Amino acid sequence: LDNGLALKPTMGWLHWERFMCNIDCNTDPNNCISENLYMQMADVMVSAGWKEVGYEYVCIDDCWPSHQRDDKGRLQADPKRFPRGIKKLADYVHSKGLKLGIYADLGTETCGGFPGSLGYYDIDAQTFADWGVDLLKFDGCYMKLTLLGEGYTNMSIALNKTGRGIVYSCEWPLYEWPLHQPDYSAIRKACNHWRNSEDVFDSWNSVKTILEWTADHQDIIVPVAGPGGWNDPDMLVIGNFGLSHDQQESQMALWAIMAAPLLMSNDLRDICPRSKELLQNKRIIAINQDPIGKQGYRTAKVNNFEVWEKPLSGGRLALAVMNKYEIGGPRGFPVTLATLPSWKICTPQCNVTQVLPSYKELGVQTLFTKLIVAINPSGTALLTVTPIKGDNNIQWQLWNDR
Ligand code: GLA
Repeated sequence: LDNGLALKPTMGWLHWERFMCNIDCNTDPNNCISENLYMQMADVMVSAGWKEVGYEYVCIDDCWPSHQRDDKGRLQADPKRFPRGIKKLADYVHSKGLKLGIYADLGTETCGGFPGSLGYYDIDAQTFADWGVDLLKFDGCYMKLTLLGEGYTNMSIALNKTGRGIVYSCEWPLYEWPLHQPDYSAIRKACNHWRNSEDVFDSWNSVKTILEWTADHQDIIVPVAGPGGWNDPDMLVIGNFGLSHDQQESQMALWAIMAAPLLMSNDLRDICPRSKELLQNKRIIAINQDPIGKQGYRTAKVNNFEVWEKPLSGGRLALAVMNKYEIGGPRGFPVTLATLPSWKICTPQCNVTQVLPSYKELGVQTLFTKLIVAINPSGTALLTVTPIKGDNNIQWQLWNDR
């Protein structure tokens, strides 16, 4: 969507995977969906370095509203859990230099059974704008499948009419796929990012399923991604309970390669230092946020390894090799630059940096060097490859003399 927003994949925090529809503030006041949760996340985002590395949006998901609209037909936040209302919460989040996201649904009800926006798109868009909301996640439950396109497009128009810059996050293709192949150019025109595949869970299986779906559909979805419009493989679940550290590294590396929105769903108030360091790794974030905004794709499956690459600015390349063996110890994978689809960037020479599993300069390489990277089971090696400009003839000479 050309609204001047999301020129790089959105970064922030979204409550759903970790906090779900926990509305029981009596027994679980610290973790229930309430203004405290977002205020505390906003506080930590500033005090613990998250904002500094780029995480900016604090996003509310489902289960925030009251079951009743007000007498003017406007949505209102649950008065017990959000006693000061969303506008005050937005002011608070803005006072920290952050942005606020909210959730609504284009059908008659949200997926969690709260009031839907069908029949109220203009009113809801204006309400969100009046409150100072900066991002809307618009879900697609309880809607006629044949009207999805119309609904998502109309809400896009309604948001635009408010004149406020609101990042528009859609789930249009996810709901449309069972019907037919979605019209991605229409989706890109209306939305800043869009969910294609099923909800992420806190498990390696879920992460693998999403990656598999993405690779299987990459010819359709990769070309549409770019500044202003991104494929959204759903939240980062790093820092929770279900992924080993190697699996967390794989999610981080591959979400960077996919130019995915980096929306963490975890508890930033209580996160293990290794997960925090991974999520705040500036080299990985730079791959995700690279200004040319090209989504990466899978280039090879070799035994139980997968190779993915992402073109970067300056003719550079990011390369991920994922070890999908779930048995044994670390395995060496030979990265032969001459077999890369983008091998030309190592003509005559290139500089290779290992970003994961640990930072290491691997030095100047040519097409003929074979780098062996050791990768733990279900872990990923992430490399960047930077061309060194020079005399091409030397390289061709070497190539011919082989
Ligand atoms: C759907 C969405 C999720 C989440 C829930 C909330 O399942 O795909 O991301 O927003 O609804 O009910």
